[in-house]
Amino acid sequence: MKNKKTVITYGTYDMLHEGHMNLLKRAKALGDYLIVGVTDENYDRSRGKLNVIQSTKKRVKAIEKLDFVDKVIVEKHKKQKAQDMVKYDVDIFAIGDDWIGTFDYLKKYVEVKYLPRTEGISSTQLRRENFDLIKMGIVGLGRDTQFFIDEAQFVSNIKINRIYGDDFLAIKKFTKESSIIKFGHDNYDEFLDTPIQAVYIDTSLKRHYILIKKALQAGKHVLCENPIALNKKELKELLSLAKSKKLILLTALKTAFLPAFNQLLKELKKGDIGEIKEVRATRTSLYREKNYPDSFMEQGATNILSGYPSLLIHKVLGKRKSIKFFDQIEKNYDISNLIITTHKDDAIGIARVATGIKSEGDAVISGTKGYVYIPAPWWLTREFYFRFEDTHKSYKFNYEFEGCGLRYMIAEFASLIQRDKRKSKMLTPSDMVSISRVVLDYNEFKEKSSKKTKKKER
Ligand code: CTP
Repeated sequence: MKNKKTVITYGTYDMLHEGHMNLLKRAKALGDYLIVGVTDENYDRSRGKLNVIQSTKKRVKAIEKLDFVDKVIVEKHKKQKAQDMVKYDVDIFAIGDDWIGTFDYLKKYVEVKYLPRTEGISSTQLRRENFDLIKMGIVGLGRDTQFFIDEAQFVSNIKINRIYGDDFLAIKKFTKESSIIKFGHDNYDEFLDTPIQAVYIDTSLKRHYILIKKALQAGKHVLCENPIALNKKELKELLSLAKSKKLILLTALKTAFLPAFNQLLKELKKGDIGEIKEVRATRTSLYREKNYPDSFMEQGATNILSGYPSLLIHKVLGKRKSIKFFDQIEKNYDISNLIITTHKDDAIGIARVATGIKSEGDAVISGTKGYVYIPAPWWLTREFYFRFEDTHKSYKFNYEFEGCGLRYMIAEFASLIQRDKRKSKMLTPSDMVSISRVVLDYNEFKEKSSKKTKKKER
């Protein structure tokens, strides 16, 4: 016979409040030993909890401080609860009655108890009371603007209410039809002069620099599609302007903010696949077939698409030592590019981007003991496989993925503003510089090679 009764409970415990304390004390009173499972931030985000303010570390620390809690664990995935029941020889699973019925499947392992929830308090309410709503404006009326607006509806602390675009008639039509955005502007200074705190920029790549600069000068935080600038001088200037103004300047590379992508980076750090020697990532899209205008394609495959493979390669292999381009040109722009970089310990990055060639959009991270395979489209990371010579050892991760993935990025941007933080850990300014430098180096390389061709022709 066991002489102690083990109780387990789970939760996010963001901004630990009286309701949490009551629940935890009630849970402890059911037995002798209380285990609390705190949900990991990537897991929370994958199950749609996008607005949690405190990091996993902070939330774990707050629970650890409670003298009646005996053990704190981190909950990382959906199936973990059942595994924990066996692992910790649990007798009772307890949770608030807002979850009534949800965990009945655990009854085959333990006794399941739904405890009364404390009325009138929740983390959601505390977040609402403690943080103001962020007003945000959109710069550029593009094909994906509506996606961004729709996805922002899932981020509770942000309100998009304005849009700026050159085409007055198009803007007028858009605001008339939109149930969310009511204010349209065709004058950028006038748009920036409104009480918005932040802007999202999605225009032609050439215009990013000037639009970002003006927004920062007007004191607005900026989220802008990649690349934020097309030459090194401009990139440096924008980053130092954001720094001096204490504003956020974040590249809108949605992959960087996906729960599964962040979990992948965490898992790689455990070293199961040995020393990582190669990262290969492909992203191709036949925009012409999707009826994008020629002017879009003419920006070049590297400028449009390289941000995604560069992100994976930089995050896994770090700073690069050298770079080589193998481009294929149509008219005056690249429709395809194979970008090979070298890194520390002779590791190699292989980025394949194309707007004129279709290929499998997957990614492989190869190590001395095994590899990770991320199926297409790897940049909308949902699942990834750890594979080894001995196939029995292989395992996979699978994450929920809501909408088109933009909401995770918008939530991080809003959370940085609310927490008064300038830098995102998921995409730091130095990540942004490294990723942009691929584009900047390519543009320099292209300029040099076109000068050489002209010389030969003379
Ligand atoms: N809980 C409770 N009474 C409250 C709030 C939460 O008993 N007023 C319980 C929940 O039922 C759960 C645990 O505390 O068992 C952790 O809940 P969590 O989801 O972290 O807290 P909420 O305040 O409900 O968070 P949110 O508003 O983000 O959903």
